[in-house]
Amino acid sequence: MHATQILPPDADGLHRAVALLRGDQLVAFPTETVYGLGGDARSDLAVARIYDAKGRPRFNPLIAHVSDMDMARRLAVFDDRAEALAARFWPGPLTLVLPQRPDAGLSPYVTAELPTVAIRLPAHPVARALIAAFGGPLAAPSANPSGGVSPTRADHVMAGLSGRIAAVIDGGPCAVGVESTILGLLARTELLRPGGVTVEEIEALTGPLVSGGDAARPTAPGQLASHYAPNAPVRLDAITVRADELRIGFGAGDCEVNLSPQGDLVEAAANLFHLLRSADALAQGRTIAIAPIPDTGLGRAINDRLRRAAAPR
Ligand code: TXA
Ligand code: MG
Repeated sequence: MHATQILPPDADGLHRAVALLRGDQLVAFPTETVYGLGGDARSDLAVARIYDAKGRPRFNPLIAHVSDMDMARRLAVFDDRAEALAARFWPGPLTLVLPQRPDAGLSPYVTAELPTVAIRLPAHPVARALIAAFGGPLAAPSANPSGGVSPTRADHVMAGLSGRIAAVIDGGPCAVGVESTILGLLARTELLRPGGVTVEEIEALTGPLVSGGDAARPTAPGQLASHYAPNAPVRLDAITVRADELRIGFGAGDCEVNLSPQGDLVEAAANLFHLLRSADALAQGRTIAIAPIPDTGLGRAINDRLRRAAAPR
């Protein structure tokens, strides 16, 4: 593997990215949530390379990213519920798990041979332009080594995957900062992962969601207990800070690192992974102690990631 190229988010960069993807190479690209590690979702070779580059367990399926509804409907069966959710929240940070069409043409490695497929239509203009120019679905997990902190900037991607992937398109920092919300739309409407679209917004459309994704009995095999983990140990709901700790705050108060001095959950989500990485670099043997975060709106996605960051490894 040659050195990883850093491509600009313009026509020339997209053109070069598409040529690499057509050759079954991997290209990381910005989405509104986190950077994705993209490969041709129809190619066994490209998808195998994604698992390899990340060191990801093969039983953990990937999301197929599409650029429009026609591409989405070629991959999965959309019932009325799925159509209504797509109409309301796409393009945007929502992933729908649906029955896969028999003629979807996806590599079986994308779905880890499940009969279902996770589909997302991202809002980021570079992501959509890339998928449209490629002309087919891209499999794209977060562009980081498996189990580590997700990337929200091109330099985070380079820190974890430089030399392991062909290129990264540098589109600047991601606006949302936490991954998409995942809904299972099978017999019931299940919340498999809280994320960038809040549960409150979804329930306003669907009524109460069933919660799924129990780590002990995963419906989504990716709901592993330890994930998003920095190198330093993490302690949650830290009201006070001990001598051997670095505190990440939320809202007013003294601390080295603050997710949002104003106590704004949208700002905190956008800062989360970048500040976890900065705190990790500053920790020098200390534990990272994180202030309590309200468990509403985007706070649910933030707390889900923090619980996994703090879980026993
Ligand atoms: O925001 C996002 O969703 C980002 C960006 C790049 O789009 N992608 C992302 O992918 O977070 P990843 O691979 O890190 O997380 C995908 C999750 C995993 O937890 C996986 O288990 C679940 O989606 N998943 C994929 N296919 C599934 C399926 N058929 N049934 C249940 N869960 C599935
Ligand atoms: Mg991930």
